[in-house]
Amino acid sequence: MADSGWTWEYEGYDPRAERLREALCTLGNGCFATRGAAPEAVAGPAHYPGTYAAGLYNRLTTPLAGRRLEHEDIVNLPNWLPLRFRPHPDEGPDGQWFTPDQDPEGLLRYRQVLDLRHGTLTRLLRYRDPHGRHLGVEQSRLVHMADPHLAALRTTFTAEDWSGTIEVESALDGMVGNTGVARYRDLASNHLTRMTTGAEEPDVVWLRCRTSDSDVRVVLAARTTCGEWEGAAERRVWLADFTAGHGLTLPIAPERPVTVEKTVALHTSRDAAISSPFSAALDRVRRAPGYDELLASHAAAWERLWRQAELEVPGEAGHILRLHLFHLLQTLSPHHTTELDVGVPARGLHGEAYRGHVFWDEQFVLPYLNLHFPELSKSLLTYRYRRLPAARRAARAAGFDGAMYPWQSGSDGREETPATHLNPRSGRWVPDNSRLQHHVGSAVAYNVWRYGQATGDTEFTHTKGAEMLLEIARFWADIARWDDHHERYRILGVVGPDEYHEGYPQAAKPGLDDNAYTNVTAAWVLARALELVRTLPASRRQELFERIRLRPEELDRWDEVSRRLRVPFHRGVISQFDGYGELEELDWDHYRERYGDIRRLDRILESEGDTANRYQASKQADVLMLGYLFAPGELRDLFARLGYGLDDEVWRRTVDYYLARTSHGSTLSGVVHAWVLARARRGEAWTHLKEALASDVADLQGGTTAEGIHLGAVAGTLDLVQRGLAGLETREGALWLDPAPVPELAEFGFSVRHRGIGVRVRMKPGQLWIGVPPWEETPVPVRVMLDGRAVDIAPGEERLLPLRHG
Ligand code: BGC
Repeated sequence: MADSGWTWEYEGYDPRAERLREALCTLGNGCFATRGAAPEAVAGPAHYPGTYAAGLYNRLTTPLAGRRLEHEDIVNLPNWLPLRFRPHPDEGPDGQWFTPDQDPEGLLRYRQVLDLRHGTLTRLLRYRDPHGRHLGVEQSRLVHMADPHLAALRTTFTAEDWSGTIEVESALDGMVGNTGVARYRDLASNHLTRMTTGAEEPDVVWLRCRTSDSDVRVVLAARTTCGEWEGAAERRVWLADFTAGHGLTLPIAPERPVTVEKTVALHTSRDAAISSPFSAALDRVRRAPGYDELLASHAAAWERLWRQAELEVPGEAGHILRLHLFHLLQTLSPHHTTELDVGVPARGLHGEAYRGHVFWDEQFVLPYLNLHFPELSKSLLTYRYRRLPAARRAARAAGFDGAMYPWQSGSDGREETPATHLNPRSGRWVPDNSRLQHHVGSAVAYNVWRYGQATGDTEFTHTKGAEMLLEIARFWADIARWDDHHERYRILGVVGPDEYHEGYPQAAKPGLDDNAYTNVTAAWVLARALELVRTLPASRRQELFERIRLRPEELDRWDEVSRRLRVPFHRGVISQFDGYGELEELDWDHYRERYGDIRRLDRILESEGDTANRYQASKQADVLMLGYLFAPGELRDLFARLGYGLDDEVWRRTVDYYLARTSHGSTLSGVVHAWVLARARRGEAWTHLKEALASDVADLQGGTTAEGIHLGAVAGTLDLVQRGLAGLETREGALWLDPAPVPELAEFGFSVRHRGIGVRVRMKPGQLWIGVPPWEETPVPVRVMLDGRAVDIAPGEERLLPLRHG
């Protein structure tokens, strides 16, 4: 692969952009991740160091406005980064520790380079101290991709035009809380307790603590060395209640740069194959090799990942897509996540927004992973399987059969959606009814089904997968109620993907009726559940029916509901929900003129004492999500099964209708609209694709990326190129291709894992190239379906195929 586009760089220091850069320069390995914060800085307006371990949550209660709010958060762990420096005080009168904020005049260079290929973050600094002395600093860090409990930081100091001593302090800092998101400032944030520190001769310090409620023990051990300078260094250890560190005073001269290496081990009591997190952390840090050796094994692990997730897209789009892939692989690393009990955190391991919770965003992530790292998809589905009993209990408590998955999920799968949230614009706490988004269950079912199609892994889909699918189907069949007037089944009192609408204006109770997305996906789930039951081997079917006590007559109801669920229409388009067409039209121009950015129209309207519930205005794709999940033919069939005609004209009108009424207040919206428009071969696709690509790197949702990347959109853009623009589907044992490239992105290449083989695909205007690698085992050809014909490509062969639609 060409070398271009493999680094992500920032030149110059900008305190206002620093938190965003920290999020985008996060390093992780699927087990834990650390934001790209400056090691010499402490948390404050410009900086927010954060380290998060996958799935490590803690629950706190906050008394707020007369009630007690319980919230479970991903825990910000003690900071392992701290490393500060200054020319030794003896050398000057003030002896200030360097920080990029203290003397903008003296900061001559500040450059951050994220090396995507090797998974490192390097900072290059040059500064002039008040005495006119120049100091160069080159600092690299890694969070080890092969050993998921290790991180390292190497700093080289160069005294350009002076000689003397430099003082360096390297520490572990336990004075941390979950304070990264301003909106949560009224909530309790101290998750760590029983902190103790200690030192081990000669160069190791440690810090241990535990989470206050989940009772997870956390230990960090740090080794700070200075190689050949050890003999000349003065070393001191300091231990305080919440910090532990080493101070080093080292001789320095222009021809004698000084290098300090800090190696850190992080263990928790949830780790496998350890005696105690304390002994494991100490042992690991003592045995860890030096930075160079760590870098070599780390880079080799990254190289293996890049080989499996090959993606070549030219230009700026390709550059951003590679960054997206980098962050996806760091959050959900195929090397390590498969051994953990974690789901897809909506904001990565990159910040504290949404408290590390798992939403429906996995629907945008697993389809991509299925084609590259199917074992990772399986592990993420298993997160849901382990929480099936909780989903069953939730359904029961709400008066339904089957499984009702929570809108926000954390440690044990109970509903974690807060009852109220702060509108930062008005300063008011407003009720949050987003937990009525039961469509999350369809997302789980959808992923089970697509995983099965992509991998052929019947061992999973016929057991755990089937159990989830059937229990979700059961929920839909039970929540659907017959309505004599409409002569249809209806699903009442829900919220769709568009979170602006939570209820009818003036209604006493939240919830909307017959959300088209919810009903159509419910019908799809029921139909797939029936299909699975039909195709299961008899013994498996019996086992499953016994396990979930399924009565054969339930299947009749599933079939009936799957054919008779109501989908509302108005003025020749699909209605987002019953009555959407009767809501008032919003004066979009007025709001755009008045507020500029109206992505979060809901907050604007609430701050004006109004509500988005009154208007035909949507936050994100809702009805149009159907065009994202289902290929046109599949969607038509689904509507036909429900007894509705959905021709191209109705769909086109529906797309136009909602396009004009959507504010794109979620990063997912750009992905979905780009997908739907590209598949419809419409020019506006590129505008939405660009928006989806810019979501995080340009922080389009106004400051939210600094609180964590948007993993759904990050993975969604990758999937958009690979499955969306290539029209790639895996079913019936074949690779189906139906390319619809947007003209601005007509050339790209990628590889996918299809039934264990890495198939390479290259698209060019009018041409499709496919290569199948040589394969020693049974030389079964790969079947490609293009324009209605089958092409079999044998191992070791490549083919250039003409494309009908350019
Ligand atoms: C979106 C949801 C999404 C959540 C987490 C919200 O803003 O509306 O669709 O699941 O963010 O990413």
